[in-house]
Amino acid sequence: MSSYAVRAQPRHRKDLTSWAMNLNAFEARARRVLPPALFHYVAGASEDAIVYGRNAKAFRERSFFPKVLVDVSNRTSKTSLFGVDYAHPFGIGPMGFSRLIARDGDVTLARAASAEGIPFVLSGASLTRMEEVSAAGSSSWFQAYIPGDEGRIAALLERVEAAGFRTLVVTADTPVNGAHERAVRHGFSAPIRKFDLNLGWQGITHPSWLVNILLRDRLGGLRFRFENVDADPGPPVFSSTLVRDMKRRDALTWRHVEKVRQLWRGNLVVKGIMSADDARTCEAVGADGIIVSNHGGRQADCAASSLDALERIAGQGGKLKLMYDGGVRRGWHVLMALKLGASFVFVGRPMLFAAAVAGDAGVRHAIRLLADEVSLNLALLGISKPEQLREIEVSKNSSCDWRSASVV
Ligand SMILES: Cc1cc2nc3c(=O)[nH]c(=O)nc-3n(C[C@H](O)[C@H](O)[C@H](O)COP(=O)(O)O)c2cc1C
Repeated sequence: MSSYAVRAQPRHRKDLTSWAMNLNAFEARARRVLPPALFHYVAGASEDAIVYGRNAKAFRERSFFPKVLVDVSNRTSKTSLFGVDYAHPFGIGPMGFSRLIARDGDVTLARAASAEGIPFVLSGASLTRMEEVSAAGSSSWFQAYIPGDEGRIAALLERVEAAGFRTLVVTADTPVNGAHERAVRHGFSAPIRKFDLNLGWQGITHPSWLVNILLRDRLGGLRFRFENVDADPGPPVFSSTLVRDMKRRDALTWRHVEKVRQLWRGNLVVKGIMSADDARTCEAVGADGIIVSNHGGRQADCAASSLDALERIAGQGGKLKLMYDGGVRRGWHVLMALKLGASFVFVGRPMLFAAAVAGDAGVRHAIRLLADEVSLNLALLGISKPEQLREIEVSKNSSCDWRSASVV
């Protein structure tokens, strides 16, 4: 059992194309490789995972009316955002703890994204120093969990700028952490308990993770820490005594975003916007863009789907660059979000699972799969580039949902 599991990563890498035919494939493989506490932390959502399901359902309810007999032989999905040309209209969203999920998780995601010509957003809850990720020669997007304590904002932003990041994403939907009951039930906590029999057993029974991620880094002298929550290195990830300090995030208001705007010279993006009112306020305080997002269903489990929110926010017009995340697993999902008003789309979980099972090769394969699907669907819709989506009609009809049809 153990030798099979230790060999699991290279084996997965070698025959990637035979089993990873779409983004959904990575989750099933990651379930085998990751200790349950970590697998469920990534795969799970908050409370009853209603919003997680709602994000997926929102895509199934929508459909395009394709055009035919159009020359689509010269297709491109190149997209420009904030003056930078990207190979595709999607990027990798910020995900905390990546270094515990995949070997060199943050650097792996950043390098793969850069090699494939798409952006990667480094999480403020990451465990690799932002300077190291930036030096890996790629990411210029950093997501900050802005401290509610105003005095600490300037020092953090100075560090982010000095590290070479040009686009700052302020996550606004986490005054408190969502209730990740599924992850907690499998032993996850933040900080992770240091001496815990259940977690110890999970490590022993997942030797490839234990050897390649935990022991390799620990033996190399790394102390897993939240490296980027503040100007200085943050608290350790493993502790049996510490309680997570949320940096008074529940005291965060628009005043803090205004302060960030005064201090930050690069592009400012607010993530986690769901209401049209808040989108207007973002514009009023000088943000350059927003990511319409319900955190992939990991925060309020009573929220609307991000796609419904996007449609409403786009409907009111305005100058902000609209970006989207939540439940994007197929190329046509990217196109649907663009059609409904987004300029760009971010993908979360599947990219981290791809990194967990097959490292850099896995993430690059995942990016190419999604890119190929975008191109394929452009052709099937009878258009050659995303801008031409304006010529394609869409409809929303819940009875088109195959799941509800099969129940009936
Ligand atoms: C394991 C994990 C960690 C995350 N950590 C962060 C984070 O640190 N900051 C943040 O703004 N969003 C975080 N998110 C939310 C993602 O950026 C994104 O909104 C969400 O994953 C998109 O949904 P999807 O996974 O269905 O694509 C995290 C998501 C996951 C799955």
